[in-house]
Amino acid sequence: MSWPCTDHVTAAAEDRVLRIRLHRPEKKNAITRDMYATMAAAIVQAADDSRIRVVLFEGLPGCFTAGNDLADFLNAPDAGTDSPAGRFLQAVAAFPKPLAAAVTGLAVGIGTTLLLHCDLVWACESATFQMPFVNLGLVPEFASSLLLPQLVGQRRASEMLMLGQPFDAAAARDAGLVNEVFPDEHLAEEVNERIRRLTDQPPAALRQTKQLLKRAWQAAIAEQMQIELDVFTKALAGPEAREALQAFMEKRRPDFSRFE
Ligand code: COA
Repeated sequence: MSWPCTDHVTAAAEDRVLRIRLHRPEKKNAITRDMYATMAAAIVQAADDSRIRVVLFEGLPGCFTAGNDLADFLNAPDAGTDSPAGRFLQAVAAFPKPLAAAVTGLAVGIGTTLLLHCDLVWACESATFQMPFVNLGLVPEFASSLLLPQLVGQRRASEMLMLGQPFDAAAARDAGLVNEVFPDEHLAEEVNERIRRLTDQPPAALRQTKQLLKRAWQAAIAEQMQIELDVFTKALAGPEAREALQAFMEKRRPDFSRFE
């Protein structure tokens, strides 16, 4: 059976693992609508394929992903449930098997919020994380306004989301966002070793454990995602986001001084 692949996203199955790899180096792996659609299709397919026991998200050396493509945000501001991004979020949130991520560098926006839905996350020492939604006149997505405070505490979540500053791999590990941090040159072998251990585990017990770990939050996550999407969609069409996105395209600092 073949897996959805494009120039910018490859999905490859080997040894019971589906590796979803972002590959758009010229734009720091920024995720376009097409890339979301490809990843959503791969995840839905993996959920039904009994040969796949684990899905692993990977990026490029130095770059996991710079987040949503900001040109798409500006030109095709559709973040609703039926949009490619919306379908990706729902497929990830509903995925019944272990999801893992190997963070090889920059993890911005959805590059960090995606990790909140992964069961296991490993990062290299030079990885940096950032959730600059407010910086862009936007609001948190992917249930991060629920899952982040749960994981890192209210104080740290407010700081990460309201100030929107980058933080390093050690801070991410200390906050509980990342399981382990490895020297850059050892990340791949350490991740492969852990993935091998995971795929050797009995698959039904793994799936049931994931379900039990998530059961109490499942409905709240779905509800929060929907509420966030509504606020996010309005914010994306609003003047603060327009200013921030225009400023990014024009390579200047945004000016929010005129807004109330
Ligand atoms: N969407 C679209 N293009 C992006 C992008 C994004 N999210 N992130 C980076 N790019 C593009 C840049 O515009 C640039 O394109 P160009 O060469 O045609 O000008 C290219 O990728 C390289 O990025 P650059 O900014 O030169 O790299 P850098 O190493 O100096 O900085 C970042 C990297 C990620 C810190 C910076 O690009 C950035 O802040 N990007 C936006 C991140 C973001 O806000 N994501 C959305 C979160 S919701």
